[in-house]
Amino acid sequence: MAPAVVIGNGDMPECEGRITVYVAVCVVIAAFGGLLFGYDIGISGGVTAMDDFLKKFFPAVYERKQHAHENNYCKYDNQYLQLFTSSLYLAALVASFVASKVCSKYGRKPTMQIASVFFLIGVALTAGGVNIEMVIIGRILLGCGVGFANQTVPLFLSELAPTKIRGALNISFQLFITIGILIANLVNYWASNIHPYGWRISLGLAGIPALVLCFGSFAICETPTSLIERNKVEKGRKILRKIRGVDNVDEEFNSIVNACEMARQVKQPFRKLMKPASRPPLVIAILLQVFQQFTGINAIMFYAPVLFQTVGFGNDAALLSSVITGAINVLSTFVSIYLVDKAGRKILLLEACVQMLLTQGIIGGILMKDLKATDSYLSHGEAVFVVTLLCLFVMGFAWSWGPLGWLIPSETFPLETRTAGFAFAVSSNMLFTFLIAQAFLSMLCHMQAGIFFFFAAWIVVMGLFTWFLLPETKGVPVDSMVEKVWKQHWFWSKFMGGEDEVKVV
Ligand code: BGC
Repeated sequence: MAPAVVIGNGDMPECEGRITVYVAVCVVIAAFGGLLFGYDIGISGGVTAMDDFLKKFFPAVYERKQHAHENNYCKYDNQYLQLFTSSLYLAALVASFVASKVCSKYGRKPTMQIASVFFLIGVALTAGGVNIEMVIIGRILLGCGVGFANQTVPLFLSELAPTKIRGALNISFQLFITIGILIANLVNYWASNIHPYGWRISLGLAGIPALVLCFGSFAICETPTSLIERNKVEKGRKILRKIRGVDNVDEEFNSIVNACEMARQVKQPFRKLMKPASRPPLVIAILLQVFQQFTGINAIMFYAPVLFQTVGFGNDAALLSSVITGAINVLSTFVSIYLVDKAGRKILLLEACVQMLLTQGIIGGILMKDLKATDSYLSHGEAVFVVTLLCLFVMGFAWSWGPLGWLIPSETFPLETRTAGFAFAVSSNMLFTFLIAQAFLSMLCHMQAGIFFFFAAWIVVMGLFTWFLLPETKGVPVDSMVEKVWKQHWFWSKFMGGEDEVKVV
């Protein structure tokens, strides 16, 4: 059975409750799952640029890096080095499907507890790694943690939040991801000067948020929705009173009971998801994630220090630059939180396409002109300009495709296919994150500056898709999407109206 997820606003009863201290504590603890995801994204680039780490696990890459006439674009091209980064996402891809079952059968809280155990063992193996096998197994376990956390935390946050602030809370998951990336960048900057075990500190410090998530996940409550859907109805009512801080929760309680009833009628949500009427939100959820990754964002998030060294910065300056892009990533996410329900989703996505297209195009042009494969460096001024352009790129991503890649899939599925649909969004994200992580350094080596034009071309495609095929969902109650959005759309309406049509609830 699909877990009944109650997300969104507008059509939900106005809850009498406020954000109680208890909810705030639960939200912060759960958000540590997002922080750990971000930390893992941000940490690998700095670690793989550290000489001590390379010498120990990737001596061939270290040798190539030292070579006097190295190829600017190829010094880090090594499948195993990329596997260090990418293995995590492959594991997360598989784990997210398992997690979606655990999440619905046993609840959000145990899923989070399992995630934290994966994280803790993964941290121990990577930070204490004595050989490459141990490190890769550690990364795989971290990936299982990411898969479990990413499937459950957004649902947990949405189900716990009072209706009025569900949208903003959803984006706060992304905010915690960006904070995790920034902390990782800062840790790398500091630890890179600690020899010979700075990399162990970088990888090991993930243990702190993992411990918070682990102990914290015993202190948090299960969500009322999860309790009710697993037939613990009275306990669900009791928890709802506790988290809302009021006695009268009847309206919200009844709406959750109804939602669970409806979800219960759909025995096989994954099969239902394959029917034509489910196609519009499914295609959009998957494509938004694919496009999100093909902006090239993770080439920067994973490999920023490597990229900055490629354009001629020294180790420290490269790490410092990645701290700057990390900070911009966090700050720009607030712009999204502020604008998403005022300006709407489409305008943010389209504006960002223009911004990202220009920045990628200009960077590609500069590198093509002035950074040849060998015996060539950018001038200091040019390198600073490239970093500035990368900052503008990250800014655009952070207020659009970053948060909206998660928000839109969470609000466009009808209730009965919502969690199953969201699992597709999570796993598409992981799959394409894996592909970028695994392929980027080789692509940089073979395509050289052309890689930036490759991403720019994708940005044109996603801009056209957004313009013509993405409907605006701002202010539309989640459970009125079929009537108000899909049936009105010039293209997607073709899929509606058949006997498989998802019934409006
Ligand atoms: C993406 C990650 C990315 C991060 C950057 C997230 O929305 O899913 O792949 O690294 O944003 O802030």
